[in-house]
Amino acid sequence: MERRIIEFLKENKETFISGEEISRKLKVTRTAVWKHIQNLKENGYEIVAQPHYGYRLAGIPDKLLPDEISYRLNTKIFGKRIFSYVSTTSTNDVAYMLAEQSMPEGALILSEKQTKGRGRMGRQWASPPGGGLYFSVILRPKITPTEAGKITLMASISIAKVIRDSFGLEAVIKWPNDVYIGREKICGILTEMNAEQDGINFIILGIGINLNTAPGSLPKGAASLMCKTKKQVNRIEFLQKLLCELELHYLKIKNLKFEEIITQWRDLSMTLGRRVKVKWRSNLIEGQAMDIDSFGALIVRDDFGFFHHILSGDVSVMK
Ligand code: BTN
Repeated sequence: MERRIIEFLKENKETFISGEEISRKLKVTRTAVWKHIQNLKENGYEIVAQPHYGYRLAGIPDKLLPDEISYRLNTKIFGKRIFSYVSTTSTNDVAYMLAEQSMPEGALILSEKQTKGRGRMGRQWASPPGGGLYFSVILRPKITPTEAGKITLMASISIAKVIRDSFGLEAVIKWPNDVYIGREKICGILTEMNAEQDGINFIILGIGINLNTAPGSLPKGAASLMCKTKKQVNRIEFLQKLLCELELHYLKIKNLKFEEIITQWRDLSMTLGRRVKVKWRSNLIEGQAMDIDSFGALIVRDDFGFFHHILSGDVSVMK
């Protein structure tokens, strides 16, 4: 019922709506309307009550509320089920557990903070409360385990694109999946999968974005979008745009149009054409980043002229 009251107030944002009108429209008593309004206020909704006029919605809480995320969300897969937490170990853990219990693809798991947020190569991912966006999506693509890198690439493009379109900032991608603005990392992606030799059971796409995070809570080399825009970013709006963009690019993978993703990735890359140092397992090579192949592997030409196709690893771009 509270969701319907909020929707009704949102549709009439510019005017006051009387308690009587709400009760008539939603077929509940006026006392029930009053109680629901009190609950909504306790949850952080700013609702102005004016005697003789009624109620007006003046503000929405800065919380990752499922009802707010799904309000007019224009997707068919991403975010169709939403699980939002105040705190969790890692949204990837929760997503993995739900995926094992047959949760359909597109389910979205978010948390205001993570106590054991993790990054690639066994690193930690700082996940303080107050302005970050930490979430995971369950995916069940019909691809082979060697193609899993495609998911990371499509996610990094989607994020860079939303940042560019929404704020006009030059977001770029460091292979395979870090999104940078200037010299600072804004976002990281961690994909984890459950697979058999010939097929993937599910992939957990985990994304951490520093949206409004205070600079003091971020590690060296990282920044938040708020530091760059000097304005508070609306997390729900950003997330909704991102879910649409992710779905668009995910469908390209499903519809065998990965070539289009590679083309966009090349345009957004800060890695290609640069001299790089790549670490993967116990290997370390230096060379020129030439291209990415049809699996999303980075092609590096070493100083002896040998070409390496690297599916996962850690790249540092050299000056
Ligand atoms: C990296 O840059 O190394 C990847 C960081 C990925 C962080 C996100 S936050 C949501 C999800 N849950 C985690 O524990 N990690 C990912």
